[in-house]
Amino acid sequence: MISEPAQTSFVPVDRPADWWRSAVVYQIYPRSFADSNGDGMGDIPGITSHLDYLAQLGVDVVWLSPVYASPMDDNGYDISDYQDVDPIFGALEDLDRLITGLHERGIKIVMDLVVNHTSDEHPWFIESRDPDSPKRDWYWWRPARPGSEPGTEGAEPTNWESAFSGPAWQFDERSGEYYLHLFSRKQPDLNWENPEVRRAIYEMMNWWVDRGIDGFRMDVINLISKHDLVDGVPAPGRTRVPCFLFTANGPRLDEFLAEMNVEVGLDARSLLTVGEMPGSTIETARRATDPANHELNMVFTFEHVSLDSRSGGSGKFDLAPLSLPALKKNLNEWQQALADVGWNSLYWDNHDQPRAVSRYGDDSPQHRENSAKTLGTVQHMHKGTPYIYQGEELGMTNTYFTTIQQYRDIESINYHASALSLGMEVEAVLHSLSVKSRDNARTPMQWDGSSHAGFTEGIPWLAVNPNYVTINAAAEVDDPDSVFHHFRKLIKLRRDHPVIVHGRFELLLPDHEQIWALSRTLDDQVLVMIANCSSKPASVPQDALPDVSGADLLLTTHHDSASPELEPWESRIYLVG
Ligand code: NOJ
Repeated sequence: MISEPAQTSFVPVDRPADWWRSAVVYQIYPRSFADSNGDGMGDIPGITSHLDYLAQLGVDVVWLSPVYASPMDDNGYDISDYQDVDPIFGALEDLDRLITGLHERGIKIVMDLVVNHTSDEHPWFIESRDPDSPKRDWYWWRPARPGSEPGTEGAEPTNWESAFSGPAWQFDERSGEYYLHLFSRKQPDLNWENPEVRRAIYEMMNWWVDRGIDGFRMDVINLISKHDLVDGVPAPGRTRVPCFLFTANGPRLDEFLAEMNVEVGLDARSLLTVGEMPGSTIETARRATDPANHELNMVFTFEHVSLDSRSGGSGKFDLAPLSLPALKKNLNEWQQALADVGWNSLYWDNHDQPRAVSRYGDDSPQHRENSAKTLGTVQHMHKGTPYIYQGEELGMTNTYFTTIQQYRDIESINYHASALSLGMEVEAVLHSLSVKSRDNARTPMQWDGSSHAGFTEGIPWLAVNPNYVTINAAAEVDDPDSVFHHFRKLIKLRRDHPVIVHGRFELLLPDHEQIWALSRTLDDQVLVMIANCSSKPASVPQDALPDVSGADLLLTTHHDSASPELEPWESRIYLVG
């Protein structure tokens, strides 16, 4: 751990109350953004060299996925020193320069906070391995199941399956006990019941705020308070149960979040806080984001990104068809539930999800651009804070790997091994991965048409998507009709029209199979969005929508926008009044 005094950013930053409601956030996954030193891995100086691109897009905030010291078992979500930068990404001074460079351009920075677990190489865990250490209780150590031989199959303290396949408990020879890891065995879970753990984390967070950051994206934060450590009932043909059923939204979650808020001054210092919450419900989100409770500004729900999986099967890789009415209904429920208290975060994409245009749009050459634009329009016209994941503003697509050797992601590799061991067909497993693997989002950013898409002068850690020749930032910045400029205009619209930030949300045509339509109302202004979310033309049922004759057409995907028929993936935003 670094003991030097924290340095503050020299550029003064204004964070008025509730500034994050009108902000647009851009997520950077550092290892895939830009490589400055030719080692094939993105790094902080690489990010700093592209700040003008972000400024041109117009985003207000950058969320930086982890750059901390890490053995990289889970690409940095396994941290061995919270207060240092991993050498593959640069040094603390590089991060200071990045913070300053962003602030100079009026862009704020939100760091990833990964405190449900550490790396097993974190000094806290290394110390905790000693049963007599005062840090033993900083993690979840438990003896084997009564009556079983420690270290043998089935002797784990509970029958929980980790999120990355296999048991959620790892046996430790030295003490004959197991430790809990909801993710990989190199990511032991911290014991938040222990007040010393919480104190150490708040101290570290304060150190980062003093260094000049503007908020935190909190990794799986609803797993920090766990329910009782008991067995579940496995589905037929399985021996274990998904661990989140027992570890999400535990009894002390609100208490821990409120305590953190006070101890770090999250609200007092107007920091942006967004909690990633797998398995969160509308009720948990309402509690966590009700400003009166002083917990978080907003959460990332997983409901809408789970609609294309079968429940009760092998989780996210058990594919199910997605219906537009079901997707609209789900987002509408969240809009209505958080209309009076709380706030929504709006996302299609991130480093854990497949590419939006491949998943919800149509990534064929004919429809890719318009579907990427229309998905952006739908996202940005909902009420909440939009999150853009690097490359989404270019309409980057899934990569469609065909062999397991092409993957680097631990979740994908472990799932492949575990599914095959359960007797699943290899073709089906590879198909699921090509649709849902996290590596779809992690292929390097496509900057230009030069070799490796201008991402690196070395060999990229993960193969670049071959479509970089046509889909890349340089080409799109030069083309006023590109997906990039559509996103730029969406961001500008948000600045120019408070109805987009504050207006009341209403879903129109909820059962329509092709059209996503909504209105936003603020005082005497009504914004109306109609979007054909299909690859076939669609007739707009005029009677069921507000009259838009004489309205201002704020943004469209197509040039001829007077027709009552929408072209495939055509969308329009009107402002009435
Ligand atoms: C959620 C992160 O987004 C994901 O990338 C990571 O693997 C897990 N949490 C574990 O930290």
